[in-house]
Amino acid sequence: METAYASDAYDLAKRAAKAVIHKFGGAHDVLAVLGSGWAHAASVLDATNEISVTEIPGFIKPSAIGHGGTLKSVTVGKSRVLLLTGRTHLYEGHGVNSVVHAVRTAAFSGCKTLVLTNAAGCLREDWGVGATALISDHINLTGFSPLTGADAPAPLHGRFVDLTDAYSARLRAIAKRVDPTLHEGVYMGFHGPHFETPAEIRAARVWGADLVGMSTVMETIAARHMNMEVLALSLATNLAAGISGEKLSGDEVLAIGKASASRVGGLLAEILKQIDLETEKK
Ligand code: HPA
Repeated sequence: METAYASDAYDLAKRAAKAVIHKFGGAHDVLAVLGSGWAHAASVLDATNEISVTEIPGFIKPSAIGHGGTLKSVTVGKSRVLLLTGRTHLYEGHGVNSVVHAVRTAAFSGCKTLVLTNAAGCLREDWGVGATALISDHINLTGFSPLTGADAPAPLHGRFVDLTDAYSARLRAIAKRVDPTLHEGVYMGFHGPHFETPAEIRAARVWGADLVGMSTVMETIAARHMNMEVLALSLATNLAAGISGEKLSGDEVLAIGKASASRVGGLLAEILKQIDLETEKK
């Protein structure tokens, strides 16, 4: 549930972090959030150590179809990676602090890197359905911010967080080396859960969006507030509303996600390996 004071949300995340550290026996380096179509990465990485999110304070089992409710721990090289098999969306109605709770929990569990994945509508016909893209920037059209309310308790930053380089150029370069065919574009985050209208998509195009979706932007803002480096990837599950003339459906999003699972799961697993190797060199 939404908390009245910012410090309550951070306290809850600290308690959750303690539980995660206790359950997995130590801190982690990376949190990867597996959105629709991306969960296969967990099996590629052979994550065997897992808990239900319901065992961790403040977590809510996601209600969105295609989203699991487990937190897995896996070692990739020298990095310890948390894999969250489903996220909470703004449209589920639990409030913005619930949407970013996993990110804050990860930050308090030692994670310095956040890898976000999602399914998105695509404005670029030249990319096509099934394309994978790195998010280079976002437009937050949700009307929300995870930093609303009182300032975060010290020693965390205040609320005026710089988002000039929200999506790490360093991590994008690593991902591009893994797959040079990855596209790169601007993600416009909507509140949902309804899909956009064709007029909204025409407006999104004029504003510079390449992808549209209902997640990611809150998590990125919360992560940057906590000094995490962010990489975000979209799987284009459909052309955005009004582009193809076809109606949109959640089933189509899931079907493309399923069909792409092993490809994008393998891609994500390889990117996590390369991030580990590069972090070693830093
Ligand atoms: N719009 C918003 N979110 C989405 C879409 C879309 O077209 N496809 C997958 N998630």
